[in-house]
Amino acid sequence: MPPILQSKRPKDLKDTLKKFLHYLGKHKILLLIIAILVTLSALANLLGTYMFQPIIDNFADPNSDKFENLWQAIILEASIYIVGALSTLGYTQIMIYLAQKVIYELRKDMFAKMETLPLAFFDHQTHGQIMSTYTNDIDMLADAMNNAFAMLISNFIQIVGLFVLIFVLNWILSIICTIFYIIIFFYVLNASKKAKQNFEKQQAAMAKLNGFVEESLSGQKVVKVFNHEEENILEFAKQNKFLKEVGENALRYSFSMVPFVVSISYINYAVVAIIGAMLTIHPLFGITFSVGGISAYLVFVRQGTMPINQFTQQANLLLGGMAGAERIFKLIDEEAEIDDGNITLVNVKENNGTLIEVNEKTDLWAWKKSDDTLVKLQGDVRFYNVDFSYYKDKPILTDLSLYAKPAQKIAFVGSTGAGKTTITNLINRFYEIADGTITYDGIDIRQIKKHDLRQSLGIVLQDTHLFTGTIKDNIKYGKLDATDDEVIMAAKLANADNFIRRLPDGYNTFIKADGANLSQGQRQLLSIARAMIANTPVLILDEATSSIDTRTESLVEKGMDKLMEGRTVFMIAHRLSTIKNANAIMVLEHGKIIERGTHKELLEKKGIYYKLYTGALELD
Ligand SMILES: Nc1ncnc2c1ncn2[C@@H]1O[C@H](COP(=O)(O)OP(=O)(O)OP(=O)(O)O)[C@@H](O)[C@H]1O
Ligand SMILES: [Mg+2]
Repeated sequence: MPPILQSKRPKDLKDTLKKFLHYLGKHKILLLIIAILVTLSALANLLGTYMFQPIIDNFADPNSDKFENLWQAIILEASIYIVGALSTLGYTQIMIYLAQKVIYELRKDMFAKMETLPLAFFDHQTHGQIMSTYTNDIDMLADAMNNAFAMLISNFIQIVGLFVLIFVLNWILSIICTIFYIIIFFYVLNASKKAKQNFEKQQAAMAKLNGFVEESLSGQKVVKVFNHEEENILEFAKQNKFLKEVGENALRYSFSMVPFVVSISYINYAVVAIIGAMLTIHPLFGITFSVGGISAYLVFVRQGTMPINQFTQQANLLLGGMAGAERIFKLIDEEAEIDDGNITLVNVKENNGTLIEVNEKTDLWAWKKSDDTLVKLQGDVRFYNVDFSYYKDKPILTDLSLYAKPAQKIAFVGSTGAGKTTITNLINRFYEIADGTITYDGIDIRQIKKHDLRQSLGIVLQDTHLFTGTIKDNIKYGKLDATDDEVIMAAKLANADNFIRRLPDGYNTFIKADGANLSQGQRQLLSIARAMIANTPVLILDEATSSIDTRTESLVEKGMDKLMEGRTVFMIAHRLSTIKNANAIMVLEHGKIIERGTHKELLEKKGIYYKLYTGALELD
């Protein structure tokens, strides 16, 4: 379900508010200033209006010194309203600063948490869902903070104050007013509920339409190949029409509110003015009304509808904001990847057979244990009876054991979906195994700090991903402080230098949309260069050369062999010619190793590998 269709109200308002207040609570002084200014502004508003009564009455009194009183009154009123206006300006400005600051902190925490989440988290969510937390939910919360938070408090003070003061001024009129206010309140409540329902439908329809446009865009080629343009236009028209209808309804309800409220409040005003005027002439229940009293009262009546009207709308806005906040906190509170390891990777040099840790970069690495002992990194990787599944009860690997001795080239072959990529996902601990152990130079990989484990592995993933930026930036991704010479050297080893130089801007050519301006094979060469520049002791290549022609492939291989001399390499390839010279080939079927040996041995065995290999030859 897209998040837009999820509840617009938080499921656990108390908990969300608590977490939200924790963020707000980091700025206690600002909050205090806002509270003072909001109260000041609301009180100034009320007092300014209330003062009409004594001022006008005094002014209307034939015995008073009119001129002097007029100036005093003007200065007093002006001062009250200036204090009110300045307070309002002050709290809205501070609120904007505070809202942006809190939003900035939330976004920062969200992204920082996202970077630590296990891959399994992303397997269970669509990217759209996570993206909408950064956009929709953050917007909703920012909106609520900018508009609703302080206003809600201000409106609340104004409504309470208004009722107290109008009842003090004249209780008979106030009973009439209350009836009108109740009518307005319930109308606004009902209309905003209806508008909200339609807005929700509109947002859902909008999300669906956006999704459709996005798919049509990214799937342009497939759409054209299957001649689906007509169908797409029809489907779009259908969704577009629905969006138009719900959008119309939503706006109809929300725009009906202002005319209704204005009409009712004018009627209220007229009724109160007539009865009030009559009261100034004929007392009722012993109650008289002064000219000043009715003047102040009528201003209150005009002002009163606004906070009542706004209150319900802002309460809705705040609830919407809290619903967004709930999803934001859900992401922030997600459990990060487990990383209990404390063994780190360090550079060493060898001195008479003993290892010494050094700060400078050497080509020798060692694992440093918590007691400071060093174990030379050799690239010995072993699986002992490993069980693994992505989803519970759906085993992918069962009782899998394998070993890769230092400096060996280990190849995995097997049919699609056999579990080859999964094995490499486990070596770098993208996922946690259910049972068994994986060791790296005799150390359980769970004891190694994840960062250091991954630092020791150079990986070319099956699905190449390039980032927006230049070719150079993309190669440097493997080693951020690499020099230009190192970049060129890595590109040469990966045999990418040739094609890069032929691009319009060479190494500075900008890569667009995940490398759309490069061929599939060129993208692979770049990811190989990226892994090569990292110069890691162990390399994992998952179909790294699958889109590269065989001649270029053998050149890449030569470069790679030179680089990887004495280091362990895991290779996965469907094209069996690629792995012929591996030290050990493992044939995988349904998460189990069914054959193991060198190319020669496996051919002699005349088993599955033999069949695969001869079959492949026939295909050639
Ligand atoms: N992220 C994932 N979540 C759930 N199941 C997955 C995930 N990745 C792979 N699988 C499942 O695990 C099994 C093994 O997949 P894996 O990617 O390891 O196959 P493979 O041998 O690399 O195949 P190919 O040759 O097509 O790359 C498949 O049945 C697949 O459906
Ligand atoms: Mg794979």
